[in-house]
Amino acid sequence: MEQLLNQIEAFKKEINAFSATDEKQVEDFRIKYLGTKGIVKAIMGEMKNVAAENKKEAGQLLNEFKVFVETKYAELKDSTVNGQASADSTIDLSLPGDALPIGSRHPVVLMRNRIVSIFQRLGFAVAEGPEIEDDWHNFGALNLPAHHPARDMQDTFYIQQNPDWVLRTHTSNVQIREMEKGKLPIRMIMPGRVYRNETVSARSHCFFHQVEGLYIDENVSFADLKQTLYFFVKEMYGKDVKVRFRPSYFPFTEPSAEMDVSCFICGGSGCNICKKTGWVEILGCGMVHPNVLSNCNIDPAKYTGFAFGMGIERPAMLKYGINDIRLFSENDVRFLKQFTSAI
Ligand code: DAH
Repeated sequence: MEQLLNQIEAFKKEINAFSATDEKQVEDFRIKYLGTKGIVKAIMGEMKNVAAENKKEAGQLLNEFKVFVETKYAELKDSTVNGQASADSTIDLSLPGDALPIGSRHPVVLMRNRIVSIFQRLGFAVAEGPEIEDDWHNFGALNLPAHHPARDMQDTFYIQQNPDWVLRTHTSNVQIREMEKGKLPIRMIMPGRVYRNETVSARSHCFFHQVEGLYIDENVSFADLKQTLYFFVKEMYGKDVKVRFRPSYFPFTEPSAEMDVSCFICGGSGCNICKKTGWVEILGCGMVHPNVLSNCNIDPAKYTGFAFGMGIERPAMLKYGINDIRLFSENDVRFLKQFTSAI
C-alpha cells in the first residue's frame, strides 16, 4: 500500500510538470499514461497485490489518479489540438484587414491650398512670415507711421513685454519681409494666420487667416493686377461669375480697390449672404505705394507692383455652408471630419 502511494505521488509530480506544445506530444502523453499498456493500466494491475483490508482505500486512490490523468489529458488537448482546430475554423486569413482610419484636412487648409495653387499656376512662389511681428513690418514700412489714423482700422494685440511687438494684424508684413531681401522681380503668394482684438462671435474671431499676393517688376500695371485677379476668380468661382472693382483706401497701395464677385449663392438676384446687393466682397488690392517700395530699398522710379489680400474663412464658410466662424477653432471632430474630400 505504502509503495503504491509513493508510486502515485511520483507520477503526479511528473504529470504536473508535463507540458505540450503540439499534437504529437499530447498523443505521446495519452499513450504513456492512458494507453492499453500505459501507466494507469499498470498501476490498476497492482490492485491484486494489495492486502484485502486495504483494497477499498486503494481502489479510491487509483480512481482519483485515473481522473487526475484524464483531466490533464483534456487540458493538454484543449491548449493545443482543440485550440488550433477552433482557431482554424473561425479565422479566415484571406479576409482583407481593417482599414486604418484616415484623418481629414481642415476646411481652412483646403481653401488655402486651393487659393494658393491657383496662383502657383501663374508662377507665384509661396512664402510665409512671422506671426509675432515688430511695429515696422506690420505698420511702419507699410506706410502706416505711428499715430496714423488707419491703424485704428485694425484692433491690434500688443505683446506686453515689448510694446514694439504685435501679433500681426494682416499678412502684409510678409510683403515687406520679401521686398527687404532685395531679390527682384517678386511674384509671391503668402498665406498665414492673423490676429485682431475683436469680440468673438459667429461672424468674427480674434484670429483668422489671409492670403497675401505681391508682384513687383518693371512695368507692372493695374491692368496686370486686373488680369491676374480675373484669372483667379474664374478658377475659383467659375467662368460665369462677374467681377467689379470699387475704389477704396489702403495706406500701402495707391490707387487701392476692393474687388467684389457676383454672389455665387443667389447668382446676383439678392440673398442674405450678399445682403440683397448681388455682390460679395472678396479682397482688397492696389498698386504698391511708392513709399512702401522706398521703405524696402526698391527704386519706385524703376519698379512698380501690385498687391492684394484676402481672407480665407469667409470663402470657406460660403463654400461649405458653415454659419459660425467659431466652429473652425473648436476642434470638434464631428465638424472636422466632414471635409474629407478635396475641393
Ligand atoms: N492688409 C489688408 C487687410 O488686412 C488687405 C490688403 C488690402 C492687402 C490691399 C493688400 C492690399 O496687399 O493691396 O485688410
